[in-house]
Amino acid sequence: MSKYPKPLMLATWSFSARGCQAAWPGLESGGGSLDAVCTVAREAESNPQVDSVGFGGMPDAAGNMSLDASVMLAPDRCGSVCAVTRHLHVADLARLVMERTSHVMLAGEGADSFADALGMPHAELLSPDARAAWKRWRSGEAQVRPNDPGIDSGKIFSSSPIGELHFPHDTVCALAVDTQGVMAGACSTSGLPFKLVGRVGDSPIPGHGLYVDPEGGGAIATGNGELIMGVCGSFLAVECMRRGATPLEAVQEVIERIHRRYKTLPHHQVGMIALSPNGSWSAGALRPGFAVTIADTTGIRSVAPEWVLQHDVEGKQGGIV
Ligand code: GLY
Repeated sequence: MSKYPKPLMLATWSFSARGCQAAWPGLESGGGSLDAVCTVAREAESNPQVDSVGFGGMPDAAGNMSLDASVMLAPDRCGSVCAVTRHLHVADLARLVMERTSHVMLAGEGADSFADALGMPHAELLSPDARAAWKRWRSGEAQVRPNDPGIDSGKIFSSSPIGELHFPHDTVCALAVDTQGVMAGACSTSGLPFKLVGRVGDSPIPGHGLYVDPEGGGAIATGNGELIMGVCGSFLAVECMRRGATPLEAVQEVIERIHRRYKTLPHHQVGMIALSPNGSWSAGALRPGFAVTIADTTGIRSVAPEWVLQHDVEGKQGGIV
């Protein structure tokens, strides 16, 4: 008998409800978990209202879009792409890297050429709203902020919150378990808005934005990739569960470690979801504002995470939360 009699999907942010609605019928009727998480990613990639993923996402400092994504089922079954500039469905492309090559990651022009070779269609990635936001940002931005405390201190920083502009960093990430008990995960993002040209965050790197190991469970992360990368956030969460931690304890360990090792700034956010091999799960965040979308046999809904580290600082809400 399967360890997972009932399928389950967990995804970051409330905008993932649309993707979960698209993916759930297939998952519930016996479809694969990898198909389900790629469907969630595809829906966000196509939705111009999601301003941190695919079409609708914010460009880099030069006004150009570049997308990152990954998929994972196990340490020996993962694939990723980064700095993709001509193709929209980058989680599907990451899956093809996993399924059709002996590599894990393809970057930049190589990833786009690989997609071309497989016949994936080209797409316009920069939405009119994102172009307008970039123009507003460019007209008012101070590139060097030497007085900022924390990880941005003294560095060229291209993602500062300015005026009324909305600065999303809300990667779509999903974990699913199918009726066969197979766990899969996917992440897709346009990265930090107005990032330095060439910047790649946590989402396409196994163990950072996404990690799945059937022996330990799965974890997904959203928020400022630089914070997640320094502690190998998703790998750390799965490793905690492998050593006996509950999903809540695993998420707490990661976020508390980020808080201990970085001087986090008010606009920083990290949200995490951890799912154990026995199907129990939890979610946590550095600050309020994060939301988890759940799809199971009782329905689809978005909820606040079980635990938030810092209640005194209001975090940024997700794109459509
Ligand atoms: N978490 C997405 C990024 O930082 O690129």
